[in-house]
Amino acid sequence: MIERRYSIEKTMINREILAVGLDIGTSRVRCVIGEPDEDGKMNIVGIGQAESKGLRRGIVTTANSVVESVKKAVDEAERISGVEIQMATVNFSGEHLRGESKSGVVAVAGAGREITDEDVDRAIDSASAIQLPTGWEIVDRLPQEFIVDGQDGIIEPAGMRGARLEALVHLVTSPSAGRQNVVKAVNNSGLEIENIVLEPLGAATSTLTDEDREYGCALVNIGAEITSLMIFGRGAVQHTAVFPFGGLNFTKDIATGLRVSIPQAERIKRDMGCVAGYLMDEEEKQEVIEITPVGRKETRQLTKEILCDILQPRAIELLQHIAREVSRVDAQISSGVVLTGGSSAIRGMVDIAEQVFDAPTRVGYPRKELLGGLIDESESPEWAVAIGLALSSMRSQILEYDMDGKSPTRKVAEWFENFRGKFR
Ligand SMILES: Nc1ncnc2c1ncn2[C@@H]1O[C@H](COP(=O)(O)OP(=O)(O)OP(=O)(O)O)[C@@H](O)[C@H]1O
Ligand SMILES: [Mg+2]
Repeated sequence: MIERRYSIEKTMINREILAVGLDIGTSRVRCVIGEPDEDGKMNIVGIGQAESKGLRRGIVTTANSVVESVKKAVDEAERISGVEIQMATVNFSGEHLRGESKSGVVAVAGAGREITDEDVDRAIDSASAIQLPTGWEIVDRLPQEFIVDGQDGIIEPAGMRGARLEALVHLVTSPSAGRQNVVKAVNNSGLEIENIVLEPLGAATSTLTDEDREYGCALVNIGAEITSLMIFGRGAVQHTAVFPFGGLNFTKDIATGLRVSIPQAERIKRDMGCVAGYLMDEEEKQEVIEITPVGRKETRQLTKEILCDILQPRAIELLQHIAREVSRVDAQISSGVVLTGGSSAIRGMVDIAEQVFDAPTRVGYPRKELLGGLIDESESPEWAVAIGLALSSMRSQILEYDMDGKSPTRKVAEWFENFRGKFR
């Protein structure tokens, strides 16, 4: 069990803040429960996962099937943590997500031409006034920077003086039905939604450093049926795109190529798959794999080299699609490429990506310096989204925490003030 040696203040804070990330994926639902600790880290106190049903390419298609998986994952996390949760920050994904960056301008009206929060909101609204196809909505508005009377690169314009305020905003749009189904599935599982966060943004929250965001980096979350790309630069999101492929493509290639069932293909992929032939020496290439083709009793043998010949061209093809998108938007990714999601764990994926993107590439593990508690259990790129969602839940609760009358001691108030500064 998890050791609990909290100070009185900490216990009080913990009662108020329970960070919950719920990552509803096409193949798995994952739940992470965290609590803030004294130095701003999140202690993971519970994790749970369950096989997922009722999604296609990241979109909830059958809310009722998803309910069962969500309940299972949440129950497990609650059991491990010993706490009961009421709400969660949930991922949002889907092959139809689109990202585009827009700008909007407003005149600063107030006395002394001091920019107010309302002016900032109006500028963001003005950038968001786009034509949408019927049934579509803006699912996120991510400010990139502000320009005040021609001075660009401003992050916090409120309080500055100026006549003309321009906002550059990255807008992400999607058909409304996708979000409505996520809400329905989560509510029917007995949980309220605290916030909905784009899946790659969740992965970025747990894996990227401030330097990655500043100098430019491409986060690529490769799931089961969906791969999402989010490009960061100058501290903000510069581009978002989603591709309708993922790890299941490799599994299907193995199933078709070797005439084996999908579950057997999945096992072969995980245990012996490699997408970069040059990582294997001659001896390993000739290692034999035994398979049982569908409808046959006798086994067949093949070498690891043949398996790699099936997987490698597919990995190159999929990564090339993503790399082309990075080039198309002319993104500067000096910090390189970060791969998250279950399929980034396929052997050789990072090596091949490094060649295809021609940029330094790493697997995005949830950053240990942000975390405590059950980190060994979740130290894997497939937990990056769920942990990032929990981190974002914790940070927004700290930012919104109303100290008036709630905070029991001065020490707690100082603690919050300290961390508010950090997360702003
Ligand atoms: N060790 C491994 N080796 C190879 N593939 C793996 C490994 N672990 C997980 N995968 C693959 O990762 C995929 C699942 O990844 P993940 O859990 O990130 O997806 P998801 O969130 O359920 O789906 P999506 O994001 O597409 O909705 C599966 O295709 C699985 O086969
Ligand atoms: Mg996923």
